Amino acid sequence: MSVELRNVSCVYAPGTPYETRAVTELSLTIRDGEFAGVMGKTGCGKSTMIQLIAGLMRPSGGQILLDGQDINGKNFDRDGLRRRVGVVFQFPEIQLFETTVKRDVAFGLRHFGWTEEEKESSVREALERMGFSYEAVKDKSPLGFSGGEKRRLAVAGVLAARPELLILDEPLAGLDPLGREALLTLLGELNRDGTTILMVSHDADTLAEYADRIILLKDGRLFRDGPAAEVFADYDALKDNGIGVCRVREAAEALRRRGWEIPAGTVRYGQLLDEIAGRWRQ
Ligand SMILES: Nc1ncnc2c1ncn2[C@@H]1O[C@H](COP(=O)(O)OP(=O)(O)O)[C@@H](O)[C@H]1O
Ligand SMILES: [Mg+2]
Repeated sequence: MSVELRNVSCVYAPGTPYETRAVTELSLTIRDGEFAGVMGKTGCGKSTMIQLIAGLMRPSGGQILLDGQDINGKNFDRDGLRRRVGVVFQFPEIQLFETTVKRDVAFGLRHFGWTEEEKESSVREALERMGFSYEAVKDKSPLGFSGGEKRRLAVAGVLAARPELLILDEPLAGLDPLGREALLTLLGELNRDGTTILMVSHDADTLAEYADRIILLKDGRLFRDGPAAEVFADYDALKDNGIGVCRVREAAEALRRRGWEIPAGTVRYGQLLDEIAGRWRQ
């Protein structure tokens, strides 16, 4: 699913002393099938942008188009939007509340008009995608799982709707290394299977590894937009924005300063290893 923001602005509490411009004249396009990473300081408008794209809020100005259709237009199918766009909010596991895993993962499907068989097969597939055995977990209470497992259950609840666009707001925060790896591997697979992904993260190395491109926001505006190799090359701009540096790029820079001719766009771990190994053999 493609996403287009045309001059989008969003103001909270307009006309009051608490008025906040969260997003200002933001224009960008995400192509169908792309994996886009979103970065920027706390308060720069990332979560607001996500809620606007998911149709959970209306912009104060501008247009948001999904597959070329204005989601706030008169004839837009908003029920379809809920089915086609999945959002994993920050710390989604706090929203697990049903008595069984099966009921919890199926919760978002209740208004889709699907048959019980369709729902069950989708819930089964989503849980198995997230690394659970359906039979082993379906009748358990979601509350008995560990933090990382609960996060995966919550993501399964979003995947069960088989969204074409999957939006994740800092999904890696608080996960242990194994949980991170499992979730990232799954996101990579979903993306290869055609799901468009928009992921907010503060982890530059991870985004360099997985995202086709990086969208950097600053004070509610678009600050940088391009491939990781390009965006992370602007070292000073990243530092000025309190954005964690890409450590792979930092290591590549340190080697360059020592006279190694590492290409400037080296941002992925595998790329850096190849460059080092290549020189070692010479
Ligand atoms: N519900 C709200 N009411 C008023 N102001 C808000 C609300 N949500 C966010 N803001 C403000 O909007 C700005 C952008 O916030 P947010 O989109 O949450 O940024 P981020 O996700 O990048 O941290 C911030 O100044 C924040 O304080
Ligand atoms: Mg946020």
